Amino acid sequence: MEVTQVLHMNGGTGETSYANNSLLQQKAIALTEGMREEAISSLYRSMVPRHLAIADLGCSCGPNTLFVISEVIKSVEKLCVELNHKSPEYQFFMNDLPGNDFNSIFKSLDSFKQKLSNEIHAWTGSCFFNGVPGSFYGRIFPSKSLHFVHSSYSLQWLSKVPGGVESNKGNIYMASSSPINVLRAYYEQFQRDFSLFLKCRAEEIVKGGRMVLTILGRRSDDPSSRECCYIWELLAMALNDMFCKGIIKEEQIDSFNIPQYTPSPSEVEMEVKKEGSFSITALEVFEVPWNGCDNWNVFDSELPNVSYDVTKCMRAVAEPLLVSHFGKAIIEDVFGRYQEILIERMAKEKTGFVNISISMIKTT
Ligand SMILES: C[S@@+](CC[C@H](N)C(=O)[O-])C[C@H]1O[C@@H](n2cnc3c(N)ncnc32)[C@H](O)[C@@H]1O
Repeated sequence: MEVTQVLHMNGGTGETSYANNSLLQQKAIALTEGMREEAISSLYRSMVPRHLAIADLGCSCGPNTLFVISEVIKSVEKLCVELNHKSPEYQFFMNDLPGNDFNSIFKSLDSFKQKLSNEIHAWTGSCFFNGVPGSFYGRIFPSKSLHFVHSSYSLQWLSKVPGGVESNKGNIYMASSSPINVLRAYYEQFQRDFSLFLKCRAEEIVKGGRMVLTILGRRSDDPSSRECCYIWELLAMALNDMFCKGIIKEEQIDSFNIPQYTPSPSEVEMEVKKEGSFSITALEVFEVPWNGCDNWNVFDSELPNVSYDVTKCMRAVAEPLLVSHFGKAIIEDVFGRYQEILIERMAKEKTGFVNISISMIKTT
């Protein structure tokens, strides 16, 4: 599977679109507002740039893409009022893989700009938008051209399924039953990818520039721990049910592996230190319930709805990968079974996604 060609969230604004099923990711963005505000404010105070170049990497499409942008503008504009400065010119770069539905974003820009100027009193600032298709595991901007880089819920995706995972039989991701060489292969792929990501951004960000990343991760040192692997283990159960019923072949499951790695805080920290161009100013670990609500306690009567939403969220993320490997015909069946499994498990267990947010300053 060529990840850069296949991976994208479900586009458009329909029932199964990422735009309509990304509340959980929005929750994580909201919970990291303080970290972004600190980074952008101290960047502005230290440089007072007249032109501010900001990139969101793995922006996808839908409300989350523009939410971060509007928040950044509001933070800087508040500072400008406080310091009696003229507004800077903003240039936003929205990056994702080429399969992303960039058109949906572009179509919503006029109404977004209109809404923003209604919300920010007397704002007459200039704001320029650019779509940047390409993998963030490579150079996508000119040298020293960016002041602030943001990325949320994207860097857990690897550039490819690691080599040497053929022995991961019956699983579609790292699991407690995965052989040790599979866990090692996933970790080594993460190390290669994340260090390349840092090296590229180190070229592109100006000295004193800032970067805030939120990555789906784990607290435990064990890469196959439930806190990061369970959601995929349950999808593997749905697929294995379908194998037992003769709907799909065993080899199809054995040859399917999710190109993700959910690192621990120390694994992230280690790569940043090894690369050496950034200094970490803050690192936080927090959890968002699978149901995307503030409340972990969901009543039994609400469970079918809640698990329906989790299933739709996972479908918006994973459907293109599944279609490319198993074909379109099985999709309704897989997600129907997955939802039933999720209803049953979520009634019994506290389930959440662990997130790692890290704020850095470019020091060299
Ligand atoms: C779950 S979405 C997150 C979108 C948005 N940032 C949010 O928080 O809602 C992850 C996005 O990362 C993108 N992505 C994954 N690997 C990438 C890569 N190597 N380069 C650029 N984008 C990538 C995917 O295509 C997807 O749109």
